[in-house]
Amino acid sequence: MGVERVQEIANFSKETIPEEFIRTTYEQPALTTVQGTVLEVPVIDLSDPDEEKVVRAIVDASSNWGMFQVVNHGIPHETVRKLKEVGKAFFELPPHEKEAYAKSPGSQSIEGYGTKLQREVEGKKAWVDHLFHKIWPPSEINYQFWPKNPPSYRKNNEEYAKHMHGVVDKLFRCLSLGLGLEGNEMKEAMGGDNMVYLLKINYYPKCPRPDLALGVPAHTDMSAITILVPNDVQGLQACKDDHWYDVEYIPNALIVHIGDQIVSNGKYKSVLHRAKVNKEKTRISWPVFVEPPSDLEVGPHPKLVNEANPPKFKSK
Ligand code: OGA
Ligand code: NI
Repeated sequence: MGVERVQEIANFSKETIPEEFIRTTYEQPALTTVQGTVLEVPVIDLSDPDEEKVVRAIVDASSNWGMFQVVNHGIPHETVRKLKEVGKAFFELPPHEKEAYAKSPGSQSIEGYGTKLQREVEGKKAWVDHLFHKIWPPSEINYQFWPKNPPSYRKNNEEYAKHMHGVVDKLFRCLSLGLGLEGNEMKEAMGGDNMVYLLKINYYPKCPRPDLALGVPAHTDMSAITILVPNDVQGLQACKDDHWYDVEYIPNALIVHIGDQIVSNGKYKSVLHRAKVNKEKTRISWPVFVEPPSDLEVGPHPKLVNEANPPKFKSK
């Protein structure tokens, strides 16, 4: 196919990295990270029986940070461990086995194994390969993008998808109540049970110059919400009050990003974030982008707009 995978580039990059991976000084993590401070993004216990308290915490985090972590979320730790085990095993297969799942060059779909082909706006590349495939709803799944090897890949991913509904429903219920809507109204506005769960595995190989490169440059997610599990290698950074901070990992927590600001008419903020790479260890992360179905037009919720609160966004 002729595409250079970052995993291969990393194999021969012992001390330096190719020039196209060196970020501008405005982006280099060594120059732009607030040192000595780890950002303690709000940690929310989803099993707390005091729902009003949970709603308040989620509203506060979503309005001020656009990011929070949830614990006691109901997804068994073993389910998450097994999801990570098979994702890692896929990336450790020989190149030709991974290439069998490669995204075809002209394809409109995002699904498949890949490396960003074009350079980004600033002419720089990100130190990452990835695999994208939908995990929900069943009618949207394209199993040709799900690795057959390791053999338990499918079972473990299906198990994770099944357990995600509880968390997704709880989060949307709290986000909805926090807007003064009925518990189901926000999810319904996003497509209800037709919402699509798109899994991405980010594979960030060891990098000899983590001070100069980035795994993922600054962005906000295109999803409604994103639910991410990382391996144990730190690297996620969030921008708060115009400064970049490392995000502290809490064992067994899920990291939630707000992607959509439209339905809440700007009350909830999407978080600007990026990912660093590591010199000694491979980073891997598993975000699930929870999105409205592609044919659904989403706009500010009609119950939130009136003369005093005009819509801040167009429907799209
Ligand atoms: C992403 C992302 C962060 C991470 O893939 O959208 O923000 O820690 N990843 O891998
Ligand atoms: Ni992201």
